[in-house]
Amino acid sequence: MGSLLRRYWMPIAGVSQFDETPIKAIRLMGEELVLYRDLSGNFGLIDRYCTHRRADLSFGMVEKDGLRCSYHGWKFAGSGACVEQPYEDVVFFDRPERRRPKSVGYLVQVKGGLVWAYLGPQPAPLVPDWELFSWENGFAQIVISEVPCNWLQCQENSIDPVHFEWMHDNWGARMRDGHDAASSPRHLRLAFDEFEHGFTYKRIREDTGEQDPSWTVGRVCLWPNAFFLGSHFEWRVPIDDENTLSVTWHWTHVPKEREPYKQAAIPTWIGPTHDANARWITSHVMNQDFVAWVGQGRIADRTREHLGVSDGGIVMIRKRLLADLAAIDAGQDPKGVIRDPARNVRIELPSVRRKLAREGLTTAEILADPVHKQALLSYALQAGQPEWVRKQFAEAMGLEAQDYRGPLQGRAYMDPAPARSGSANPAATT
Ligand code: FES
Ligand SMILES: [Fe+2]
Repeated sequence: MGSLLRRYWMPIAGVSQFDETPIKAIRLMGEELVLYRDLSGNFGLIDRYCTHRRADLSFGMVEKDGLRCSYHGWKFAGSGACVEQPYEDVVFFDRPERRRPKSVGYLVQVKGGLVWAYLGPQPAPLVPDWELFSWENGFAQIVISEVPCNWLQCQENSIDPVHFEWMHDNWGARMRDGHDAASSPRHLRLAFDEFEHGFTYKRIREDTGEQDPSWTVGRVCLWPNAFFLGSHFEWRVPIDDENTLSVTWHWTHVPKEREPYKQAAIPTWIGPTHDANARWITSHVMNQDFVAWVGQGRIADRTREHLGVSDGGIVMIRKRLLADLAAIDAGQDPKGVIRDPARNVRIELPSVRRKLAREGLTTAEILADPVHKQALLSYALQAGQPEWVRKQFAEAMGLEAQDYRGPLQGRAYMDPAPARSGSANPAATT
């Protein structure tokens, strides 16, 4: 499966993470690597350990055109080429063409404030140009966490509609309101469909009908390892077989009267996963998901599961993954690889509230709706948003200092939905 996932660009870091420290050790697809930004602003991703005597290049020195080892000064370009060996260059000055021990070097690109890496065979495809990366008048933020389990059980959560009812609505409500908390509307019908860039799941619940966009449009299980919910992406990037980098890219439109707004830089923050008692955090939507994923074990034992009728989408993606493996064995591209530049322009994905997410509302409209208001007053998706990010967000949204520390905790996905009557948790939406 690694050879399949290597055929896609993976978001691996936020560009803004390199403002203070330009070098970062990173493990990807089971390889120990170092990601750095050189003094020209170019990113490189090479073997973490120097080809000389294996010193740790995450403690190296960035230069104009590469990374230099701090042990004996060997220098590497982003291609992995060893371009300088200071002492050997003196002694062998008459043999400039001699072979120098090359490092690994992977392709890196920047898009949407994310650093993307490609670890697969050439020719490399294109970094997907999802339309959100070009939207205007919004505040984007990137949240990264390490989750100690295999990426696939995280990704299976991207095509699992019923878990919202139980994990986020009912469990969330009981943690907040106690055992007598009212129950969420039940799911009545599900449908799963495949399209070029992934799969969609569609639902009808007791409180929604066939005209609701959650049935007509649905949510996107983005191929091969992400989830897209209209205003945010969640990627599940393999660190190795037993660990996953959860990378979220989250967009909030500013209130209309704040336009035009231009974000100076997209902040990146590391989401904590445990509380002061070393227990998994359960207050926020993605933290609840993390609990489910890691609870299934480092690598979920599928021989001991019993799929239910709600798992139709999971069966579909497993079959597609196996078909993709056959495709690459046959020398073909797997699903959703993008190679045509003409088609890689602001690609639109199915979205239940695309217009709203892209165009926003006025402050009055936001404050009049409990779900929109909450999305403004707290980052509900994941725990631990740092104060400095909160402050940037509040400034972008025009919130007064006293407003931006909302008391609300983990009650909603950020995609707002109309408040429902009769729901235990009108703020939980997806
Ligand atoms: S170990 Fe890196 S230069 Fe010697
Ligand atoms: Fe979830």
